[in-house]
Amino acid sequence: MMEFTEGKAVINVPEFEKITSRTEVFYNPHMAYDRELSLAIFKASQKEEVCDAFSGSGIRAILYALEGAHVTANDTNPCAITCIKENAELNNVSLTICNEDANLLLRRGTYDVVDVDPFGSPAYYLDSVVKGLGYDSYLFVTATDIRALCGFSKKAALRKYGVKTVKTPFSKELGVRVLVTAILREGAKYGIGFEVLFSYWKRHYIRVFLHAQHSKTAAFTCMDQVNPVYVCLCGWFSTRTTECCPYCGRETQAITSVYLGPIKCTPFLSTISGHDLVDRGKKELDTPFYYDTHYLASFHGVQPPKVKDLIEALAKRGHAASSTIFCSTAVKSDAPFGEVVKTCRDLQTTP
Ligand SMILES: C[S@@+](CC[C@H](N)C(=O)[O-])C[C@H]1O[C@@H](n2cnc3c(N)ncnc32)[C@H](O)[C@@H]1O
Repeated sequence: MMEFTEGKAVINVPEFEKITSRTEVFYNPHMAYDRELSLAIFKASQKEEVCDAFSGSGIRAILYALEGAHVTANDTNPCAITCIKENAELNNVSLTICNEDANLLLRRGTYDVVDVDPFGSPAYYLDSVVKGLGYDSYLFVTATDIRALCGFSKKAALRKYGVKTVKTPFSKELGVRVLVTAILREGAKYGIGFEVLFSYWKRHYIRVFLHAQHSKTAAFTCMDQVNPVYVCLCGWFSTRTTECCPYCGRETQAITSVYLGPIKCTPFLSTISGHDLVDRGKKELDTPFYYDTHYLASFHGVQPPKVKDLIEALAKRGHAASSTIFCSTAVKSDAPFGEVVKTCRDLQTTP
């Protein structure tokens, strides 16, 4: 067995050499960051009843239970179930342990918090997941099928998430919005609307945290924010129907359709401290999509400006601008596209 410590929890998992879905019991130490952040968001929710629907070694379930939560830990793998039982004993916590398909479990009962961390895409589970959400509940979802979500595999995106995507220079944020779109659609059918509390991308995965409201009005408001986006190879994008790019004249491509509302909730996040990513996220402009300075620079033949300099220069010209947690070389701004490119150019000549 191998022993790992995360926060207040100590767990044992069967020996493994590589982290793959074929290990006897799945445990990925690189996801410790996500588990720590999930715990902070769980604490901020002030909820008690959690369903860890894809539990693996039980690490998430144990971390939640050590904070006083009543946790259901579920996994289809019988070896994982043995591991969860032993790890629960080791950490002196009591869990409700289930050994079934998450799709069945989540259709039988409802929970205050549902944590969904499957292998690959969560798309196969979303319908059951929304059924498992109690009144005024929280949903945490991980997705690792980055190619489908971020516009690199168009067929997979359309099939799994119902969104026609294209390759863009803002792929990471697009990935979050595609995933949120699919969740909103599933919820809307049952009269559930969502507020996105926080979302981020790291390493090989996307993670979104949402607050569910059982309200047809909330569901409608969410779906009303699912709209097309028009993008051009030059880096321009707009939510207005535009066949030709007003900046360079090329034909635009459409992403149809994707959630364009807020992907963070600053009042909720203000109750969380000690997380650099959350602190940076709080300060980010909440408008859809960012301009990657490296993409703009290579396409428009300019030197990439420093993000800090570009933000300052745009602010001096009267535009709101910020960095983004989705790309270290990008800015978000309400400035028109041409103004962003011009400012990049001007920064080359004005030291
Ligand atoms: C990515 S791992 C979970 C990792 C765990 N949440 C953690 O933080 O360490 C996915 C887990 O889902 C389990 N699994 C796969 N298909 C499932 C299903 N349909 N229902 C429930 N569990 C499933 C696998 O056995 C595996 O343990």
